[in-house]
Amino acid sequence: MKSLYPLLCIVLLASCNGPVQKQAGIDARVDSVLSLMTLEEKIGQLNLPSAGQFTTGAAANSDIAKKIEQGQVGGLFNIKRVAAIREMQQIAVEKSRLGIPLMFGMDVIHGYESVFPIPLGLSCSWDMELIERSARIAATEASADGINWTFSPMLDLSRDPRWGRISEGNGEDTYLSSQIAKAMVRGYQGDDLTANNTIMSCVKHYALYGAAEAGRDYNTTDMSRYRMYNEYFPPYKAAVDAGAGSIMASFNEIDGVPATANKWLLTDVLRKQWGFKGFVVSDYTGVSEMIAHGIGDLQTVSARAVQAGLDMDMVSEGLLTTLKKSVDEKKITEAEITEACRRILKAKFQLGLFDDPYKYCNEERAKAEVFTAANRAEARKAAAESFVLLKNEGNILPIKKAGTIAVIGPLANTRENMTGTWSVAARFSESISLMDGLTKAVGNSAKLVYARGSNLHEDAAIEERATMFGKSLNRDKRSAEDMRTEAVRIARSADIVVVAIGEAAEMSGEASSITNLELPQTQRELLKALLQTGKPVVAVLFTGRPLVLKWENENIPAMLNVWFGGSEAGDAIADVLFGLVNPSGKLTTTFPQNVGQIPLYYAHKNTGRPLSGPWFQKFQSNYIDVSNEPVYPFGFGLSYSTFMYSDVKLDKTTINQSETLTVTIDVTNAGQYDGAEVVQLYVRDWVGSVTRPVKELRGFKKVMIRAGETKTITFQLTKEDLSFYNYDLNWVAEPGEFSVLVGGNSRDVKEAKFTLQ
Ligand code: BGC
Repeated sequence: MKSLYPLLCIVLLASCNGPVQKQAGIDARVDSVLSLMTLEEKIGQLNLPSAGQFTTGAAANSDIAKKIEQGQVGGLFNIKRVAAIREMQQIAVEKSRLGIPLMFGMDVIHGYESVFPIPLGLSCSWDMELIERSARIAATEASADGINWTFSPMLDLSRDPRWGRISEGNGEDTYLSSQIAKAMVRGYQGDDLTANNTIMSCVKHYALYGAAEAGRDYNTTDMSRYRMYNEYFPPYKAAVDAGAGSIMASFNEIDGVPATANKWLLTDVLRKQWGFKGFVVSDYTGVSEMIAHGIGDLQTVSARAVQAGLDMDMVSEGLLTTLKKSVDEKKITEAEITEACRRILKAKFQLGLFDDPYKYCNEERAKAEVFTAANRAEARKAAAESFVLLKNEGNILPIKKAGTIAVIGPLANTRENMTGTWSVAARFSESISLMDGLTKAVGNSAKLVYARGSNLHEDAAIEERATMFGKSLNRDKRSAEDMRTEAVRIARSADIVVVAIGEAAEMSGEASSITNLELPQTQRELLKALLQTGKPVVAVLFTGRPLVLKWENENIPAMLNVWFGGSEAGDAIADVLFGLVNPSGKLTTTFPQNVGQIPLYYAHKNTGRPLSGPWFQKFQSNYIDVSNEPVYPFGFGLSYSTFMYSDVKLDKTTINQSETLTVTIDVTNAGQYDGAEVVQLYVRDWVGSVTRPVKELRGFKKVMIRAGETKTITFQLTKEDLSFYNYDLNWVAEPGEFSVLVGGNSRDVKEAKFTLQ
């Protein structure tokens, strides 16, 4: 087919108002394109097939090139490399009738080829500049390789570690996740989306996806609007406020209607209340899945989705194949389809694709800007900042580069598993495993000896499900006993044992829900055997979720939680183990004592029968068999130093609605090492028109404090920090008594009270 692209360019140039009135310019240019389009071409723009290089579902799309030529595709994803992307773009621009360029999306979730820690890990850095930089680097690399749209950030609050996708989010806290949301959007989109090194962000999964019942992926959610507005919505809203260009509807239902066709969610809240101006894409087959949800056939659900406010259909091809029929049958109007198409064209203009469809297709840039030494150095730094020191009895850590170090465990020698879930662009074979990192770090100063010690899991079938997507652990055929015997022998020959345990990368992530959060039995047996040798044991824990570590906390002297640190994980772990970096990560999820406590989170309500201590009290809200305490609370994380907190000082005891309260606290580094501390500020609203949580994070500062030094940390609180959505969902700050609680975690805090008038 002869392309009208030259004509399109003339129309577009004529209608462009120039940079002064950029927005008006874009709207006029979108109108001019729309005026050339047939209904079928508009519908085509709403279609987002998967190019099939990586998939997360059974369905795949076929005949993509032909569809692009026929104007039936608006964007593509799951395609990597400039040459492949250019080829598809050429078909769109040169062979389709109107030559409308495609968008190219990818799940660039925590880095591109230079892979940063999984988001849950990165959140434990509490370092917004670092997080923004990680997204900036991801955008630079992805855009250099042809990508202009990322399905990130994932902002699903989750308080259920059974849910595998807790690894992809920022943990359990609303405030922290909202700060991260802004940092990520800024990092991806920068100040100028038309630049060739920025990419459009797609906030996901809107909404409440992390509250799936029983932590089972894709499961139903059901919650009060009060909780949605106060706890689960703010991170998405923060990303929208930061200018995110697109948003992804979640798989789950909300109030009985799947998010993908939920008009209240996609239009009333998102567009009318929050003023979102971008476009909404479904999740992978989210449209056709509504048949199984039970709200109609493909034609019905497709029309309903568009009428609810959905603009783009990922993979289902429900919009592509049924909307014309629905228009003919007057079930939907062309105007409604035009609106959806308008939003997608607008995104393409915002990216500058109409001005230069090949602006991201530059092999030279790809060669020069992807997986560079500088980017990898940033990823290494980020990884070290994400690690959380859970225990360090007798200051076993940091260890010396001397003597013989035994490195044992199923995760010790696996490059493929370092980057964690959602690292589709990673170069697995070039990731730094723990063994790689330690080998480089010790050089000739110490001797390393290695044994695998155990498989990941005693059940081969479970291990297989946890080691997909090229992340095999090459299961060892030996018996568990043989492997343990060898490990014990190796441990006995060493001065110290570093044991790499936990999950494999794909044990968390999508469709990786789990009901048993304890370490697999075979790993526990290995730990027991190693402890019996009497050698000092340091556990390096890989995980994508909070695990149940009650036994480990009671028995292992030192434990460093390293999540999945990314492509440079092994170097970063060595940096921390040998004391080059003092660990400063703080948990952003509560670690429970057992699965039965879930959901366990710090910002809970008091109830009418609160427990007054950790131990059982009859007729109070608690359990017979376990206390209400977690193993590790939200915000917890040790350092090689010890930080001491003074009392909290307030500059006033009463403030009115327009005043600012200044909170100060002195923090002293009483240890031998310089270190960073995350000082956390929580607020409690004692009496409200509705019940309020026992504490809520409202501020934090990560500060570097030299050994022996005292720093005064200051926070300013305003009415905004004391506000919440009331019963009628109005944003209010109610007069009354408040507490300010400051500390190094959510449990150990210093308190001061004030009154809001
Ligand atoms: C996931 C999304 C992802 C999409 C595209 C889906 O299965 O839920 O998070 O962006 O696939 O890969």
